[in-house]
Amino acid sequence: MKVMIVFGTRPEAIKMAPLVHACKATPEFDTIVCVTGQHRQMLDQVLEIFDIQPDIDLDLMKAGQDLFDVTSSVLLGMRDILKTHKPDIVCVHGDTTTAYAAATAAFYLGIPVAHIEAGLRTHDVQSPFPEEFNRQVIGKVATFHFAPTASTRENLLGEGVPAERIFVTGNTVIDALFWVIARLETKDALQRPSINRLLTEQLHFDLSSNRFVLITGHRRENFGQGFLSICEAIKQLAIAFPSVQFVYPVHLNPNVQAPVKDLISGHQNIHLIEPLEYEAFVYLLKRAYIVLTDSGGIQEEAPSLGKPVLVMREVTERPEAVTAGTVKLVGANTENIVKGISTLLCDESAYQAMALAHNPYGDGKAVSRIVDAISRAQIPKNSDL
Ligand code: UD1
Ligand code: UDP
Repeated sequence: MKVMIVFGTRPEAIKMAPLVHACKATPEFDTIVCVTGQHRQMLDQVLEIFDIQPDIDLDLMKAGQDLFDVTSSVLLGMRDILKTHKPDIVCVHGDTTTAYAAATAAFYLGIPVAHIEAGLRTHDVQSPFPEEFNRQVIGKVATFHFAPTASTRENLLGEGVPAERIFVTGNTVIDALFWVIARLETKDALQRPSINRLLTEQLHFDLSSNRFVLITGHRRENFGQGFLSICEAIKQLAIAFPSVQFVYPVHLNPNVQAPVKDLISGHQNIHLIEPLEYEAFVYLLKRAYIVLTDSGGIQEEAPSLGKPVLVMREVTERPEAVTAGTVKLVGANTENIVKGISTLLCDESAYQAMALAHNPYGDGKAVSRIVDAISRAQIPKNSDL
C-alpha cells in the first residue's frame, strides 16, 4: 500500500515524525514523506532531530505569507504530486493550512484521507482561527479519523461520522515526547548539539538553581492587542519577580517577533531566544517551573511532565487537562496572566494543586494503533488517477 504522509509546520512535523518512523518500518507500506515547507527553519529543525529526509519538498514558505499564499500553493502543489505518485491513502495532521489544503487536494482526486489528531473542537470557527475551520473541513473529507481521546471521538460521532471510521489512538505527540525523553536520559545527552548550544550559547543562567517560566506564543487571534497585553504582563512579572527567569523562544512569525522584541528586550531576567530544536525545548520543559503559552501541542506535553500551564487563550479544544486541573485558561489578558503566574510563584499549595503528572493525551503508543488500523483497512488500489 502506498501511504503518503504530508506535513509542513513544526507541530505537524513533531507529531508526524513517529508515524513516519513506524510506517517506514512496516514492510507492506511504501511510505512517501511529502513536506510542504509551510515552515522552513522550524520544520527543518524537527526533520533533523528525528532524522527524516523527505521524498518531496514543496518548499513554499514566503516571509510574511498569508492564508491565500499557503492554501493556493499547497493545493496546486499537491495536485501534481498526487497525480504523479498516486498514493492509496494520504495522511494529514491536525488543523494547519497544509493539512486542510492537502486533504482537500486528495479529496478532489478521490484519494482516501487519514486524519491524525481528529475531532478536536472549540465549535467556534473564529477561535482558533483558521484552525477550527481547517479541522472541521478535514473532518468532512476524511475517510479515517484517528481521534486522540474519548471526548474527541464524541465530537466526531456528534457530527455524524460513522463509529467504524473513528479510532481512539492517543495523541502521537506523546510518542514523540517519550522518544525524545528517552534520548535525553542517556548519559551523553548533554553532549547533544542542541542541548550543548542551549546551555552554552542561548541561556546564561543556571537552570538547576533558578526558577523559570517557559513562554511561547504565536496564535493569529492574539496578533495586535493580544501580543501587546502578553508582553506587558511578562514585563510586569519580570520586574515584580527579579529572581525568577522568563525564557521565551520567540516564534519566527514577524507578527510575533516585532512586538516581542520591541516591548520586552533588555530585561536582565527575560531571555528572548530563537525557536529551539524539539530536543532542547523538551529539556527546558522538564526543568521549567511554570509554562505560559498559547500553543496546542504544549498543552498536551506539559501535563505529562507535571508542569502547571497557563494558556493565553479564551477557549481550548483540549479540555482534558483543564478538567484534570493542570491547565488553566487566562486569555491574552495582562491582569489575568500577572495574577495567575504570581499566584503560582507565591502560593505553594496552589502550585502543587496544578503540578500533577498525568497523561490524558496518550500512552506513547498512538502510532502503532494508527499503523495497525491503516494496515487492516480495505483500501482499493489507486491506479486510475
Ligand atoms: C502555523 C499554523 C498554525 C500552527 C503554527 C505552529 C496555519 C494557518 N497556521 O502558524 O496552525 O499552530 O504554524 O507554529 O496553518 N516563519 C519563518 N520560518 C519558519 C516558520 C515561520 O520565517 O520556520 C515566518 C514566515 O515569515 C511565515 C510566518 O512565520 O510567513 C508565518 O508562518 P505560517 O505558517 O503562515 O503561520 P504560523 O503563525 O506559523
Ligand atoms: N516547540 C519546539 N521549540 C520551541 C517551541 C515549541 O520544539 O521553541 C515544540 C513544542 O514542544 C510542541 C510544538 O513545538 O511540540 C508546538 O508548536 P507550536 O506551538 O508552534 O504549534 P501548535 O502546537 O500551537 O500548533
